[in-house]
Amino acid sequence: MNYRHGFHAGNFADVLKHLALCELLRLLTAKGKKLFVLDTHAGAGGYDLGGALAGRTREAAGGVARLLAAPRSGMPAVAARYLAAVSAYDRKFGSAGVLRHYPGSPRIIRAALRAGDRFVACELHPQDAVALRREFAGDRTVDVREEDGYHALKALLPPLERRGLILIDPPFEAPDEFEHLARALRQGLRRFATGCYAVWYPVKDQAAVDEFLRAFAGLKLLNVELRVPPPAPGKLAACGLLVINPPWKFAEAMNEALPWVTGQLGPGVSTSLSSPTA
Ligand SMILES: C[S@@+](CC[C@H](N)C(=O)[O-])C[C@H]1O[C@@H](n2cnc3c(N)ncnc32)[C@H](O)[C@@H]1O
Repeated sequence: MNYRHGFHAGNFADVLKHLALCELLRLLTAKGKKLFVLDTHAGAGGYDLGGALAGRTREAAGGVARLLAAPRSGMPAVAARYLAAVSAYDRKFGSAGVLRHYPGSPRIIRAALRAGDRFVACELHPQDAVALRREFAGDRTVDVREEDGYHALKALLPPLERRGLILIDPPFEAPDEFEHLARALRQGLRRFATGCYAVWYPVKDQAAVDEFLRAFAGLKLLNVELRVPPPAPGKLAACGLLVINPPWKFAEAMNEALPWVTGQLGPGVSTSLSSPTA
């Protein structure tokens, strides 16, 4: 396991994933009923953008930093809420002005939960698991587990709450990650068909992406993709988020936010929104 999310914190892929995650959480916590959240590949929880990893790549400069520099007028509410979540995390460190600390998915999730909601975060990398434990030390709402997130899909679903959001955000280091992911997702859906699943994927091999999406066509889906001009040869330039069982109004919210996000990320950036069917 070599992947460290710290190298990529706040980049264009995080912008897509975390903006959508904020909106999913908002819609799913709008109802009174309790919510269970599982983050199968949680990462370190939060990232120092000036630290040893993110400070080396500076990927946030082409991602969240561009959105933060945008004028507030004309900013869609979805984007404003995402940026408010980012800034609120940064402020905990006493930062002022330039963004220095970026929240990972566990921090974004935790900030949206209500009393009585439950959150399990799995992370396998030993250093990131330690960081994640430290991030939530003493917080009884967050159950940090140094275990295989794919296994958690079998072990923890269906949740007692019967309402759940499952974020699956693998590192795609292994050549068979799509197959592994599809198998685990099928198992999760068999156990908990009504859960809302948000699955991040890189677009490097279009045929592999198409095959993955085809495997779930026929379900209630919304697929969002974001493409940027290649940052450097061989670097990731496109990614997607497949949302199974999206909450009511989620598509509308993404439709409103994505053109604005595209515009802020710069020339040559594009987004697409589709509902793949069988
Ligand atoms: C893309 S990063 C996660 C980023 C995080 N979800 C966020 O948005 O802030 C993927 C993480 O999964 C971890 N990982 C890899 N295989 C795993 C597995 N089978 N179960 C749990 N975590 C795993 C990696 O160490 C890495 O930290």
